[in-house]
Amino acid sequence: MTEFLLNDRTVRSNAPLGTTLLDVIRYNEHLPGTKIGCREGDCGACTVLVGEQRDGHVEYRSMTSCLLAMANVHGKHIVTVEGLTDELAHGAGVERLNPVQQAMVDQGATQCGICTPGFVVSLTGCSLSSEAVTKELAIRAVDGNICRCTGYKSIERAAEVAAGLMASKDVKEPVQWAVAHGFVPGYFAGIVERLKRISAPPSEVDPTSPLLGGGTDLYVQKHDAMLHAAIHPLNKEHALMGIRIENGQCIIGGATVAGELLTSQELREYFPNLEKHLLLVSSTPIRNMGTVAGNFVNASPIGDFTAMFIALDSTITLSNEAAPGQGHARKLKLKDLYLGYKQIDKKPEEILTSVQFNVPGKHTRFNFEKVSKRTYLDIASVNSAIRLELEGDTVREAHISAGGVAATPKYLGNTASFLVGKPISPETVRAATKVMNDEIAPISDARGTADYKRLLLRQLFFAHFLELFPERFKLMELVA
Ligand SMILES: Cc1cc2nc3c(=O)[nH]c(=O)nc-3n(C[C@H](O)[C@H](O)[C@H](O)COP(=O)(O)OP(=O)(O)OC[C@H]3O[C@@H](n4cnc5c(N)ncnc54)[C@H](O)[C@@H]3O)c2cc1C
Ligand code: FES
Ligand code: FES
Repeated sequence: MTEFLLNDRTVRSNAPLGTTLLDVIRYNEHLPGTKIGCREGDCGACTVLVGEQRDGHVEYRSMTSCLLAMANVHGKHIVTVEGLTDELAHGAGVERLNPVQQAMVDQGATQCGICTPGFVVSLTGCSLSSEAVTKELAIRAVDGNICRCTGYKSIERAAEVAAGLMASKDVKEPVQWAVAHGFVPGYFAGIVERLKRISAPPSEVDPTSPLLGGGTDLYVQKHDAMLHAAIHPLNKEHALMGIRIENGQCIIGGATVAGELLTSQELREYFPNLEKHLLLVSSTPIRNMGTVAGNFVNASPIGDFTAMFIALDSTITLSNEAAPGQGHARKLKLKDLYLGYKQIDKKPEEILTSVQFNVPGKHTRFNFEKVSKRTYLDIASVNSAIRLELEGDTVREAHISAGGVAATPKYLGNTASFLVGKPISPETVRAATKVMNDEIAPISDARGTADYKRLLLRQLFFAHFLELFPERFKLMELVA
């Protein structure tokens, strides 16, 4: 049984653990405000806020309920658009709007209305977060919400108004602040205590069942099969969570979600462009669900985290827990996980518990580049990452990855070896692209022809050097 709070109600649900929260909300709990659009995480019509207990308070994140399995809902506070208001307007029988809803109305930001609950939920989530809200941040919060009527300008204005109203937010006590300022109803104040009273789910999981991270890949690829599948959810396993630095290594739990990478102070210290890189990956609600391990194990040749972590020369740990106390763990380089198209060196029962890499030093340079049909909320046509260790002007060590140019995520070992010992110069970069061309084998598909992908990778390779050494390179010198 799954026990959770749905707005101000406690729900005990016997729906199969593979059922999506969206279906439970609409068909079992009869709350139709959460809309169905694509069922693939793309449109945001089904967005809800998911509150989780952390260090004695509740943290809320937006997620797409069409990809959220009931197995990942136990012990959480789920907030739908109906849960954002609780008072009937003074006798009129109409619900009082919260300030975000009012801004949407005032700015004419809704037409057919199918997308509106998703936008309202995502924007209201800003009032509950521990980040200061700016116009840019409010607009980023709706990067997973699509509207086909308004043309977005009116929604942008509503986001700006809402951000202005949230400018005085107390980032230390956001929930109390949001209650006091009418963004969420009074019952939010008691949620933390109510969540504490929900006991851990019965450990009825068969450890040999298929592993579930955030479900953002599984529910797109195998939606129907998942609904009644026996599954082994991993996001409750605290050993798989978190980011830590130990003995010069950065160790990231396999169930860490992209959103946590984005807000990690540790990572920001070592990767000044972290935000720029991670904002190219999916959208806010998907980043709040999708795990790094899920990205590696789904073995997509264009996985963005896969490209980043291969270039970091990362090592993964795979653990076999099938027999408690008798399991074993093994380590291998992430680049060696990939054997062929969607074939990986991993047994079904092995859990990817962590990924680790040497923390960058002052002579390290790292960059990630991606080209997709849309800049945001799209998977790559081609992506690439690079890590260089420098000694003066010379490359001491190099690791380069590329996605979309072979059947597997590609470690460009020959190109990396070619760079070692060479000076950073346009001649080196031009010569390296010739080596690179010989070690890729792109195919023509919906994302472009093989020739186009070769060209894209060459451009991304140039982009790495233009980005990392802006004072030394000009694009024309590289192309010449
Ligand atoms: C709208 C949308 C946009 C997206 N955009 C991008 C994008 O821009 N870039 C990108 O790279 N991807 C993108 N994705 C794909 C997806 O979100 C990511 O690959 C994500 O990281 C998958 O993680 P997950 O936890 O959701 O995986 P899941 O769906 O839970 O699992 C995927 C696979 O990994 C296995 N698995 C999960 N965790 C573990 C573990 N700890 N140990 C062993 N096996 C495990 C599962 O059994 C399954 O085989 C997008 C997806 C959607 C729906
Ligand atoms: S229905 Fe489109 S994101 Fe869920
Ligand atoms: S108002 Fe119709 S889709 Fe946004």
